[in-house]
Amino acid sequence: MQEQIHKLPKVELHSHLEGTIKPALAQEIAQRNDVSLDSNLFHSNGGYAWSDFPSFLTAYDNVSSCLRLGKDYGDITYEYLKDCAKENVVYAETFISPDHAAECGISYDDMISGIANGIDDAERDFGIVGRIIVTCVRHLGPEQGLNVVQTMVDNPHPYVVGFGMGGDENAYTLEEFADIYNIAKEAGYECTVHAGEICGPESVWDAINYLPISRIGHGVNSIKDHELMNELVQRNIHLEICPGSNLSLSIFPDWDSHPLPSIMNKAVSISLNSDDPPFFNTTVGQEYYDSAKHFNLDIDELKRISVMAMEASFANSKIKSRLIEQIQKFQN
Ligand code: ADE
Ligand code: ZN
Repeated sequence: MQEQIHKLPKVELHSHLEGTIKPALAQEIAQRNDVSLDSNLFHSNGGYAWSDFPSFLTAYDNVSSCLRLGKDYGDITYEYLKDCAKENVVYAETFISPDHAAECGISYDDMISGIANGIDDAERDFGIVGRIIVTCVRHLGPEQGLNVVQTMVDNPHPYVVGFGMGGDENAYTLEEFADIYNIAKEAGYECTVHAGEICGPESVWDAINYLPISRIGHGVNSIKDHELMNELVQRNIHLEICPGSNLSLSIFPDWDSHPLPSIMNKAVSISLNSDDPPFFNTTVGQEYYDSAKHFNLDIDELKRISVMAMEASFANSKIKSRLIEQIQKFQN
C-alpha cells in the first residue's frame, strides 16, 4: 500500500509558498541576504518554534523575512515543487503573498517572475505543473486586500490562476472583502478563501453568501452544520482539507476526531493538502499516507481524492483533462 500511495499521481491545491520554506533553506537564504532571523524562530529539534495559531502566524512572518530578491522566490518555488515531484505530485497550486514580498522590499513583478522561473525549471526537471494563487492577508484589512487584487488584475501572468485569502479568520468580516473578491472574479480569476478552520460553520456560510468562491481553504468546521454540508454539495463547493495542519494547530485533538471521513460520506468534494509543510512536519504525500492509515482509505479512494482535487483546480481545461486522464490511468 505504501508503494501504491507513493506512485499515485497526486495533486496539491492548498500550500502557502512562504510557509513551504524549510529551516535549512530559510537560514541559507537569510545568510546570503545578510538578514538575521529571530533566534526564537528555531526549536532545539531543528523545526520552527510556535505554540498556537497567533504564534504560528508570527513564525510564518519571521520565516518570510529572509527573502530579498525575485530569485529567492524562484529558489523556494523550485525546492517546494521538487519535493512535491519526489512524491509524484503532478500538479501543485500554491498561495503567494505580495504583502510578505513587499515587506521584504520585493516588487510584485520581481516576485511573480522569480516564481515563474521556479515553476518553469521544476516542470523542465521533474515534469510537475505549478500554478499561483495570489492571496491577501485577512488581518491586514480590506484596504490592503484591495491593493493586492488590483495589482494582480493590472499585471496578469499566465501562471496566476486564482485569488484567495489567508491570515486570522477572526479579523474583519468576509462581507468587507466582497468587493475585492468581485474584482478578481470579474477579471476571470477563480477564488478560494480560508474559512471554517479556526471559526465555526457561520464563517463558511459567510464565505458562500458574500464571496464568489468555488473552494474553501479548510472548511472542516462545516461538519457541525448539516444544512451547510448540503449547501456545499449543492453548490459544488470544494474543501481544501489539511488534516496534519488541523492536528498541529489543535483544531482537532487527534485523528479519531478529525471529520474527513464524515465529510467524504456527505459527498462533498475534497482534496488533501499540506498547508505549511515544515511548520506541521508534513508533506502532501504524508497527508495521503496518514489519511489512508487513520481513516482506512484504500487506494481507489485516494485516487478519487486526487481526481476530485484536479477537477477543482484552477488549471486551464487542457491541463486539467490531461492530468485527470493521467490520474485515472494509474493502475493500482
Ligand atoms: N497562512 C498560512 N497558513 C495559514 C493557515 N493555516 N490559516 C490561515 N492563514 C494561514
Ligand atoms: Zn492555509
